[in-house]
Amino acid sequence: MKVFLLISLLCTFFHAIPASHEQRLFQDLFSDYDKETRPSQSVDDVVSVQLKLTLTNLISLNEKMETLTTNVWLEITWIDYRLTWNLSAYDNIDKIRVPFDNVWLPDIVLENNIDGKFDVAYYANVLVNHTGDMYWLPPAIFRSTCSIEVTYFPFDWQNCSLVFRSQTYSANEIDLQLALNFSTNETVEWVDIDPPAFTENGEWAIKHRPAKKVINKKFSPGDLEYQEILFNLVIQRKPLFYIINIIAPCVLMSSLLVLVFFLPAQAGGQKCTLSISVLLGQTIFLFLIAQKVPETSLSVPLIGKYLIFVMTMSTLVVLNCVVVLNVSLRTPTSHSMSRKIKHVFLEVLPVYLGMHLQPSDDPCDISQPRRRSSFGIMLKAEEYILKKPRSELMFEWLKCRYGLNSAFSDKYVDGTDVDGTDMEITTTLYKNLALCAPAIKECVEACNFIAESTKEQNSVDAEMLNWKLIGKVIDKICFWAALLLFTIGTLAIFLNGHFNTVPEYPFPGDSKRYLPE
Ligand SMILES: *[C@@H]1O[C@H](CO)[C@@H](O)[C@H](O)[C@H]1NC(C)=O
Ligand SMILES: *[C@@H]1O[C@H](CO)[C@@H](O)[C@H](O)[C@H]1NC(C)=O
Ligand SMILES: *[C@@H]1O[C@H](CO)[C@@H](O)[C@H](O)[C@H]1NC(C)=O
Ligand SMILES: *[C@@H]1O[C@H](CO)[C@@H](O)[C@H](O)[C@H]1NC(C)=O
Ligand SMILES: *[C@@H]1O[C@H](CO)[C@@H](O)[C@H](O)[C@H]1NC(C)=O
Repeated sequence: MKVFLLISLLCTFFHAIPASHEQRLFQDLFSDYDKETRPSQSVDDVVSVQLKLTLTNLISLNEKMETLTTNVWLEITWIDYRLTWNLSAYDNIDKIRVPFDNVWLPDIVLENNIDGKFDVAYYANVLVNHTGDMYWLPPAIFRSTCSIEVTYFPFDWQNCSLVFRSQTYSANEIDLQLALNFSTNETVEWVDIDPPAFTENGEWAIKHRPAKKVINKKFSPGDLEYQEILFNLVIQRKPLFYIINIIAPCVLMSSLLVLVFFLPAQAGGQKCTLSISVLLGQTIFLFLIAQKVPETSLSVPLIGKYLIFVMTMSTLVVLNCVVVLNVSLRTPTSHSMSRKIKHVFLEVLPVYLGMHLQPSDDPCDISQPRRRSSFGIMLKAEEYILKKPRSELMFEWLKCRYGLNSAFSDKYVDGTDVDGTDMEITTTLYKNLALCAPAIKECVEACNFIAESTKEQNSVDAEMLNWKLIGKVIDKICFWAALLLFTIGTLAIFLNGHFNTVPEYPFPGDSKRYLPE
């Protein structure tokens, strides 16, 4: 036991020698040091505290939770007059590293945090210079609130800020300032980014990163809210991800809508199916967007507007399909086509649309020549044979024979049949004809009926064809209207997004870049 005590005593004795200066310094510095009191020689002495933020990684911006997560180094410097020493008295030790809980700290916190974590991630040691300069550089992962402006999503830019304040000291006790660059003597009015240490974010590009001390005039200097240091990050979204994954498929799918107009009227069911499938697909995209953006009713994101637009168009196309189907399957028994409709849809509009519809689709025009060829001649034959007396027929024939009727005689002028035997044949023919007059009449009546119903059928067919053509004309009109609307709408909405760029200066009305030269 005694030996052990002796050894340990010897150990402490020998061990103390190399560290003696630093240990002595520590003992001298902290023997009557009170870390709870502010380093001020008099009551109205204000301790000046400098702040600098170095961004190493913009981890993410959660639009839904409106949270910006950043990985930073927070550099805090101040002067503690109690921690100064004479270099030559302590073997030229010019700086020491002190655990954070041994010295006074200015209590700087992130005011706009979202998770109740006000302070830094790791409490590093404080570097103390022999002049009393305190230098503390703790790393931190901050989750700060950032109100998301969704109007131009996904062509948006966001303005997020990190607000630092002292949690316990007012402006009467400490003076918050931005750090100074000692070599150039200028204020560091920006969030520092050290390129080798910085990891670029895949989704966001940092456009502005100003820093500013803000004095809230509505509070008195005694209030904690009176002064704060504001670090702003104006970031712009890189929209390629959304263009590839949402916008391009959505535009391509919606452009299929235009194809609906090329389907024939008979395929009305398929038309409706196609446009309703597109509508359903768009609903899925709308759902995806709704999951991404915050549930705000203050504004509608651009892509949401576009989806609403194309969904409205799909609905109109479905409506059009139904109307066209209704029109093109009409029949004369259910609907009558007025002259006006026919004129407008089959004569006027096709000219402007550059359509070549079948000419002379008028039912009267179609049946006219037929009546003249068969029906008319039959009527005439009937009249001729049944109503004229047989004798007159005979005389007519005779008249022809002796050159009184030129029309007839022209045919037979050099014929060998201009003799007595021919005349006898003709006479017997007419006699026989007269004998079967009732049968012929019946036959004529039957022919008459067939002609009548054929004519009716023709006119029904023609009118049905006309309704079909009207449907086609409506389809064509709607095709051009939809194409125009789709193109203009798509261009307008996405150009609107394209021209939504970050303002040139970080603070509106302040033409200063807040960047190192
Ligand atoms: C520092 O210490 C040396 C020797 O101990 C002394 O000569 C010198 O005056 C001291 N300087 C100050 C500023 O106290
Ligand atoms: C410590 O003091 C020396 C001399 O006054 C100065 O050059 C140096 O920049 C100081 N270091 C820090 C970290 O303040
Ligand atoms: C101070 O400014 C100079 C020149 O702009 C720069 O090279 C240096 O990195 C700056 N130092 C700090 C600590 O920001
Ligand atoms: C920096 O500015 C301070 C006052 O603003 C001045 O006293 C000091 O001499 C300047 N230093 C340099 C290197 O310009
Ligand atoms: C960003 O927000 C800050 C305050 O939070 C404001 O002062 C600044 O003007 C905003 N910047 C832009 C470009 O809107």
